[in-house]
Amino acid sequence: MSMDGKTVLITGATSGIGKETAKGIASLGATVVFTTRDKERGEKIRQTLIHETRNPNIEVLFCDLASFESIRKCSEEFLQKHDTLQVLMNNAGVVDYHRRISKDGIENMFAVNYLAPFLLTNLLLETLKKSAPARIVNLTSGLHSGTIHFEDLQFNTGFSGMKVYAHSKLAIILWTRLLAEKLKGTGVTVNCLNPGMSRTNLGRDAGWFSAKMFQLLGKAPSVAAHTLIYLASAPEIETITGEYFEKNTVKKTKPETYDMVAARKLWDISANLVK
Ligand SMILES: NC(=O)c1ccc[n+]([C@@H]2O[C@H](COP(=O)([O-])OP(=O)(O)OC[C@H]3O[C@@H](n4cnc5c(N)ncnc54)[C@H](OP(=O)(O)O)[C@@H]3O)[C@@H](O)[C@H]2O)c1
Repeated sequence: MSMDGKTVLITGATSGIGKETAKGIASLGATVVFTTRDKERGEKIRQTLIHETRNPNIEVLFCDLASFESIRKCSEEFLQKHDTLQVLMNNAGVVDYHRRISKDGIENMFAVNYLAPFLLTNLLLETLKKSAPARIVNLTSGLHSGTIHFEDLQFNTGFSGMKVYAHSKLAIILWTRLLAEKLKGTGVTVNCLNPGMSRTNLGRDAGWFSAKMFQLLGKAPSVAAHTLIYLASAPEIETITGEYFEKNTVKKTKPETYDMVAARKLWDISANLVK
């Protein structure tokens, strides 16, 4: 199916699942804008994607998702050039082995995996509404678990890489469900997905064991990208919103991912954090 005439913004398409998704979507004819945190590397990847897909409409934007200022600049730059946005894919993500702090002094996984999509989406929301039908696609993980750690959202104590990663991905699901409620009637849908374990760079900072696990057990990123491309393009899901997908199918998730009281509380705290 063609995505001719549509504009798609993908965060973190410099490796892994995001890169394969950018390739797949560019092959469908869309204008693809992707973010990088290394301008030179981003430009090389842009050239490769143009060569591989024969689609010249591929652009790269600098964005460090661990910085609110950089996210704001990136959205401004996008809006200077584009009046419409049919698909926003919040793909970029990180797993840290040791606790790290973002440019804004926030625990890095909470900042990059959850607050960055929260802020970027908010900055682009009016343009998405103007471009409706439009879609927001958020990356979560099958590892999402627990409840929101309101007493210490940034794990000042009790940090463990996988636990904090899982927490950031739970936050994504709650936010997706609440945003879907808020966007009812606008023609903008928002869903999240678990791409499944894939051989990407994701585990590289999470210690030798995790990195090996990703490489040994993961599927190819081009396969993991199928669900992202499906969520961006499939006509049969145009009105589905607020759901969690695995392998192109809506899946029920744990009861705590439907806790809208927690979702609202998290929303208010997040809005304060990103100012
Ligand atoms: N791989 C899996 O098994 C798996 C399973 C479930 C969910 N996921 C999710 O899938 C998504 C894609 O991950 P992946 O597996 O493809 O990992 P990946 O190969 O490590 O790609 C992650 C992307 O995010 C970018 N990124 C990370 N931190 C950033 C920052 N501070 N600012 C800007 N960009 C940043 C990376 O940029 P650089 O290239 O500069 O590092 C890269 O482009 C993530 O949300 C991840 O949580 C992956």
